[in-house]
Amino acid sequence: MCTILGSEWPDVTGHFGTIHTGHSDRTNRMTTLPVQLDRAAPVPLGVQLSGQIRELVLAGTLVRGARLPSSRALAADLGVSRSVPEQAYEQLLAEGWVEARPGSGTFVAPTGEHPSPGVRRPRHPKPVTPDLLRLDAGTPWIDPRHAAGWRRAWREVSTARPPRGYDDPRGIPELRVALADRLGRTRGLACDPDEIVVTNGATDGLRHVLAALPAGSVAVEDPGYRAAVETILGSGRSVRDLPATTPVTDLAGLVAAYVTPAHQHPLGRVMPAVDRLTLLESARRAGAVVVEDDYDSEFRYDVAPVPALATLDRGRVAYLGTASKSVAPSLRLGWLVPPADLLGAINARRVVTHEGASWPTQRAFLALLRDGYVDKVVRSARRVYAERAPRVADALAPYAELAGPLAGMYSTWLLPQADAERARASARQAGFEVNLLADYCRTASLTGLVVGFGGATDEQLDRALAALVNGLRG
Ligand SMILES: Cc1ncc(COP(=O)(O)O)c(C=O)c1O
Repeated sequence: MCTILGSEWPDVTGHFGTIHTGHSDRTNRMTTLPVQLDRAAPVPLGVQLSGQIRELVLAGTLVRGARLPSSRALAADLGVSRSVPEQAYEQLLAEGWVEARPGSGTFVAPTGEHPSPGVRRPRHPKPVTPDLLRLDAGTPWIDPRHAAGWRRAWREVSTARPPRGYDDPRGIPELRVALADRLGRTRGLACDPDEIVVTNGATDGLRHVLAALPAGSVAVEDPGYRAAVETILGSGRSVRDLPATTPVTDLAGLVAAYVTPAHQHPLGRVMPAVDRLTLLESARRAGAVVVEDDYDSEFRYDVAPVPALATLDRGRVAYLGTASKSVAPSLRLGWLVPPADLLGAINARRVVTHEGASWPTQRAFLALLRDGYVDKVVRSARRVYAERAPRVADALAPYAELAGPLAGMYSTWLLPQADAERARASARQAGFEVNLLADYCRTASLTGLVVGFGGATDEQLDRALAALVNGLRG
């Protein structure tokens, strides 16, 4: 364990504290801060360092009052001249993230810990040691047998001519036609291609909806999707917690409610039909928009996917879809079907801001859809999840209670916090990172584990489960 005053780091190996030269002569020097500098990057080293320390403060990893290493020690650890940490500290001092105490050193300033005082945020887990394999809820299984389809799509992009200027702000028309067809086929959602807006993912879609809404607070399920909470707070709005396990009957005073009805994130529950109707009725009474994040609905393996909530009221629901679960989160592609009265404002804003999705990515996704690649990888992944989900259940059911039906690429297990922490520590020892349910809670007090099974091989999953069970046995 590598320690700095005021806080403890997880064991650091590999990339932490390493200067990346961009060449083969990478040094493996350790530092007392989990930062990495890249000499090959165009950004000056001092700016890289101040940016990374700022992020550590924002993430709560560097807590208020923590003493930073002296500029001399940090320079020695990083193998840079002393002026690099000095510049970084000066910048952070000027921005108010750190304070200098003459004779004592540089400390994280009290104001730096919570950028928006008074705003309740979910707890952020500490950064993961880079050599741990993350068994998180967001990493899908991509069948390597379909790699040829992926390559074909990008070859097609390489020979296509990009538009000379900014493209259609709503997204490539042919892609919107293909998405309309797919939404009708897989989600029961009948919409015109011109009602679809291509985005950089579900979270980006939420950002576009927020930008078109009047000022006001937004409700989010608790426990819920942390990126949604951060996005809403980032738009300058406050968040109201909606208990994820009870029907929503009152949205008075809110402009929107963000929900995951097909597969509540992270509890896994499907919103019952009667609750869907109650939610929509509450939204109508309040004049609020319901933002439906339909992130992984294609991955039901027991029954057909539940139709989208948006099919019940297109005028009230903003539908968010993403390629992050079916193809890859790194693609950064998604789609939004907003209510008709927000569509014009969203598109008008995009004409001015050019915040559309990248043309090559859209073009590649169109090729992947036309080629049948997306259907194939979804079918393969569904088969893999259908086989892995019961394996996870067999291992954990003797010790914990499953929070929702088996679906998607993760399952959530209720158990006391101490047991969950013990299981996680045991998984870490074996080289795996598993999330705690408590980290998704704001006011809710649920505890347990969220175990993703998309991002590992079968063999890795077996080892991770054995380690979790070892930890649970105590
Ligand atoms: C609830 C939820 N929504 C959406 C996403 C994907 O978001 P994006 O499309 O921005 O990658 C995830 C990914 O883990 C998720 O868990």
